[in-house]
Formats: sequence, structure tokens, C-alpha cells
Amino acid sequence: MAVSGGIAAYKSCEIASQLTKLKINTQCLLTENALQFIRPLTLESITGNRCYSSQFNYDLLTPLHIELARIHDLLLIAPATANVIAKLACGICDDLLGSVVCAFSPKKKILIAPAMNTQMWENPILQKNISKLTEELNVDWILPEYGELACKTEGIGKLAPPERIVFYLKEALQQKESQPLKKQTVLITLGGLRESLDPVRFLGNRGSGKMGLALAKEAHRLGAKKIKLISGNPKLKALAPDFFYYLEEKKLLEVSFAENFSEFKKLLFESFSQSDILFMTAAVTDFSPRYFCPQKIKKDDFSLELKKNPDLLLELSKVKSKEQKLIGFAAETTEELERNALEKLTKKKLDLIVANNVLKSEIGFESDFNEVTIFGAQKKFILKKKKKEILAQEIWQVFLDLFLPTS
Ligand code: CTP
Repeated sequence: MAVSGGIAAYKSCEIASQLTKLKINTQCLLTENALQFIRPLTLESITGNRCYSSQFNYDLLTPLHIELARIHDLLLIAPATANVIAKLACGICDDLLGSVVCAFSPKKKILIAPAMNTQMWENPILQKNISKLTEELNVDWILPEYGELACKTEGIGKLAPPERIVFYLKEALQQKESQPLKKQTVLITLGGLRESLDPVRFLGNRGSGKMGLALAKEAHRLGAKKIKLISGNPKLKALAPDFFYYLEEKKLLEVSFAENFSEFKKLLFESFSQSDILFMTAAVTDFSPRYFCPQKIKKDDFSLELKKNPDLLLELSKVKSKEQKLIGFAAETTEELERNALEKLTKKKLDLIVANNVLKSEIGFESDFNEVTIFGAQKKFILKKKKKEILAQEIWQVFLDLFLPTS
């Protein structure tokens, strides 16, 4: 990680700390101007690695910049000042950072997180330098945010939050070589729906969207061409802000929100026709109130008349093509889990059904853990209790083994 000389340099300590806690071996270098803001000892103490600030005076047999460029898989520059960006765009090698960038293999990623005053950020020369670096080198940008700046103004230019920078870096390191879903558009419905009875009350359920989100993260790791989410949980993005920011910026993700059954159904049918795989984790409301009362219903007048909602998976199974895959999720509360899940698999004409017992308090709705059994036409897979993120990897693995075995 290279740190250049702006006030946001102090945040590099937090970034280095988060990376080190993630067991990402991090070595820092400071530009001469960065030394005005922080000391090498700070970063050395955090990372446990030597922090360099000059090309010279080190007891090495190979030139330091060549060695640093050779041994590291990725270079993060955070914060990057306008001056550093300009120098890199011109290939100037009069200091350690410029020399490392020049010696860095084009196969390795350089991540740059700029931070500066708004006028400087909007300066056309800086923007041209950014375009030039993007075109010429293997560079990705972690764009600055709007906020209060050190120069006591408000505007774009604030360093992206350390958590986001760390997220981008993890993404760059984790990109899977084999991308089995690179040709697939994956649609995932998630969270619980609500049916309003009056302006105050609703019928709902406890679906949080966590399982669907874990499946979406794994679909991304497997290289999905596009991921579409239809969420009943309006606060879904708060569960993983950096994931949403990153994927939406890269146009890999579309998210839409539905409150009730009819909104959900419309979005589902619109999206399904352009999708290859549907994971239907949403807790769809089985009933809607027959009438919505625009005024709060007085308790003495309260009565509930419900209408049954049609089964959406069943409707989709009638219009789906042979190539499209439908995966249902069965929430069961009885010992008859297997019988009920198999009945749903057949009745809804699904390719797979993932069943779990939602009566167990430590798994299922709202929990970070789950245990499931997957039923296909011929096979059954028991996946023991674990974090939803790990479980999602195993569910996808079952899917890939059955339907995309050569990927
Ligand atoms: N589902 C659906 N349309 C509905 C209700 C549910 O497509 N009107 C989907 C769910 O998203 C889930 C699967 O069907 O993927 C199973 O849902 P679940 O609630 O377990 O069962 P139901 O089919 O609703 O049957 P029951 O409530 O009787 O268990």
C-alpha cells in the first residue's frame, strides 16, 4: 500500500489495520510528502512489515523498487493526491512510488483511491490523467466521496471510507480464475413481503434477505454476468453497503424493491424473462387483505378478509424455457420437512428445492446461520449448520455440479 501526502494519509493506518486483521500481508511505502503527515513506524507497527519512504539507503542487493514490484500481488495507493496521479500518468520515476508503478507488471492490479479538494478533483488535467492511467495501466479507481473536506469546504474529494477501500481490495484479490457463471444472469428474490391493511398496520413475515444476499455474493464470486435482486426488505443495502456500492458501480447488479405481492409479482415476471437462474428465497405472502382501508381501522370495527395469492413459482414453471433453472426455498416448521419439500418440488416443477426448519431458533429467519437439505429430482444433499455465507457456497456448488458440470 502506498500513501501519498494529503491529510487523508492518517486514514491509511485504519486501512492497514483492517487489511492486517484480514491476514492480508501488507507492506507500506510513504511518499516524501506523506512523511509530513504520518511516520513509517506507525505503519510498521500495524503491519509488522518494514515501511519504505526512499529508494535509497537500504541494505538490499536488488533495487528496492524492482523488488517491491516483484513480490507484491497488488498495489493500493490510498490516498492518492493530484500530484501523484499526474506523475504516474506521465511515468515519472523520481521517487520510490513512481518507480514501483513503472516496474509493476501490467498483469497485476493497481487500485487508486484519490482524495483532494473539489476544485482539484474537477480539474480537467487531473481528469485527463485519470483517463490516461485507466487506459494505459491495469488501474481501478475507488472514487472519492462527497463530504466535509480539510479545506473547510463541502464537496467531492473525501477519501472513500476505509471499509470500502478494503472491500475493493479483497474483490481484486479474490477474483476467481474460473468464472462458471460468466454467461449467466442470476435472479434472486429475497426478504419478506408486507401487505398493508391500513396506513398503520400490515401483514408480514420474518424473512430478512440474509440467505438471498449470501447467494448473491457467491454468484458474484463465481463471475455471474449480471445479478438481479428483488427485495422485500427495503433496508437490504444496509446489510452489505460496500457490496452494493461496488457491484452497482460496475453495473453487475440491479436491485429493485417490492413491498407487497402485486408489486413483487410484476417485477418478478419482468426480470425472469431475461434471467437464466432464479433463486426464490423471498418469503412471499401467501395471503393479501381483500381491501386496503385508507383510514386507520378502529379496533371495534376490525375484521380481516383475506384472499389467497397465486403460487408464483408454479406460474413461472409454465412459462420458463428448458434452459432456465428454478430453485425454490421451503420454510417448514414440522417434522415432515422431506415430504413437504418433495411435494413442493414436484407441484411447482422446480429444478431444486432448498428446505429448512424455521422452528429452530438458532437458524433460519434473521439468523446468520442456517442448515438445509436440498432436494432435486433424484438426489438429496444435507448441508449442516453453518454461516449463511458458507452455506451459499455449498448450495451453489450443488447447483454447478448438477447443471453446469463442465464449467
Ligand atoms: N412461493 C411462491 N409463491 C407464493 C408463495 C411462495 O412462489 N405465493 C415460493 C417461495 O418463494 C419459496 C417456495 O415457493 O421459494 C416455497 O415457499 P413456502 O412458503 O415454503 O411454501 P408455500 O408454497 O407458500 O406453501 P406452504 O405455505 O403451504 O408451506
